[in-house]
Amino acid sequence: MKDIKKYIAENQDRFLEELFSILRIPSISADSAYEKDVIAMAAATKASLEAAGCDTVEICETPGYPIIYGEKIVDENLPTVLVYGHYDVQPPDPLDLWESEPFEPFIKKTDIHPEGAIVARGACDDKGQFYMHVKALEIMVKTNQLPCNVKFMIEGEEEVGSESLGWFVKRNQEKLSNDVILISDTGMIAKDIPSICTGLRGLSYVEVEVTGPNRDLHSGLYGGAVANPINVLTKMIASLHDANNHITIPGFYDKVENLSEAERARMAEAPFSLEEYQKALDIDAVYGEAGYTTNERNSIRPTLDVNGIWGGYTGEGAKTVIASQAFAKISMRLVPNQDWEEITQLFQKHFESIAPAGVKVKVKPHHGGQGYVTPIDTIGYQAASKAFETTFGKTPIPQRSGGSIPIVSLFEAELKSKTILMGFGLDSDAIHSPNEHFGVWNYLKGIETIPWFYKFFTEMSR
Ligand code: BES
Ligand code: MN
Ligand code: MN
Repeated sequence: MKDIKKYIAENQDRFLEELFSILRIPSISADSAYEKDVIAMAAATKASLEAAGCDTVEICETPGYPIIYGEKIVDENLPTVLVYGHYDVQPPDPLDLWESEPFEPFIKKTDIHPEGAIVARGACDDKGQFYMHVKALEIMVKTNQLPCNVKFMIEGEEEVGSESLGWFVKRNQEKLSNDVILISDTGMIAKDIPSICTGLRGLSYVEVEVTGPNRDLHSGLYGGAVANPINVLTKMIASLHDANNHITIPGFYDKVENLSEAERARMAEAPFSLEEYQKALDIDAVYGEAGYTTNERNSIRPTLDVNGIWGGYTGEGAKTVIASQAFAKISMRLVPNQDWEEITQLFQKHFESIAPAGVKVKVKPHHGGQGYVTPIDTIGYQAASKAFETTFGKTPIPQRSGGSIPIVSLFEAELKSKTILMGFGLDSDAIHSPNEHFGVWNYLKGIETIPWFYKFFTEMSR
């Protein structure tokens, strides 16, 4: 791999400008008001793959947003890397907490990114990260160093559950055949502590509805005499954890994989400062399941969190009212062996069973997916590890993440190949939050590291 650094140095302004132009497109998959923008982003993704040197690029229609598929096949006998990413982004709200416009990217210096960070919705999750692969392909093609075949599959519904991608993968196994799947949609420990993500949690997402009286009531005339749906809902939610912060749903932990003491000891070796963790979040203590460390709580243990709750009067001033209904959105992060559909059923059964007389409870399942763990004794992992060693000068640490990319387990089931999660973001990049950003250094380092993965993977596959 010659001249990669030189190529990046000569083209880095353009690499940034191109990323800026796709960050200007508000491709919010959750909000149908942005449908045109999501479609425009699909077209921009296609154009970028053509410009980078793919031989064919297609906009593949699905029941939902299109999937962009591109490929460059150099020799049928060489290995094939399938790159996955997503061109959709999370909604930017709450808007007033952004220091700038979410879809007007600019570069800002921060403590962690003194050389500058690209601030915009999608900068890290996942436009900045999938675009590193587009630029890495450009470099390999333009410098005649693409060592194997490459396929790209970039979807537009990751942030809303990847339903159309599941549909697409099941129908296109042949087209998507590959030797390894490569994804940059996760993070690493720190800029000077590279890591490779070896696990993702699964997810079960539900919405609950508690209905009491048939209309909103005067809280003086009726208060104390009928069930208040908001009181009931919050009490029911509070009962989902016990005093040790264990989840109380019967059967919830039955299939949870328990790590050996040796595995837990190895996990504990990863550099981590509780003090810095608390400081970065401005909290005076961490919180969670008794008997587990912070890094265990956020990766190898399942959780249940309320993501939104509403009902009653929330406008200006006061209104004395008992609302007829109360609602909440609840997500459960799952670990390997827990089946998301089974957990959804256990939740539903339990939640309905704890409803007191006087209210009706409805549980509406949203989406979900299985967790994933990848072994580190594979050619793919070893190639990624060597790539990081080459460009960071350090062996990356394998580390499981708490986030979810539900489609990864489906890739394994349908395409029978392992996924390598080579992410370059940082936890402090504020993905899904206001002021999301991605370090310029991280962006360029990712572009530099990816071609080495291709080289080592091709060599080690012989
Ligand atoms: N890229 C993230 C997932 C992620 C981030 C994994 C950092 C590991 C480290 C992805 O876009 C995401 O946000 N996934 C959702 C799940 C989806 C079904 C909405 C999540 O984890 O909440
Ligand atoms: Mn993502
Ligand atoms: Mn995301």
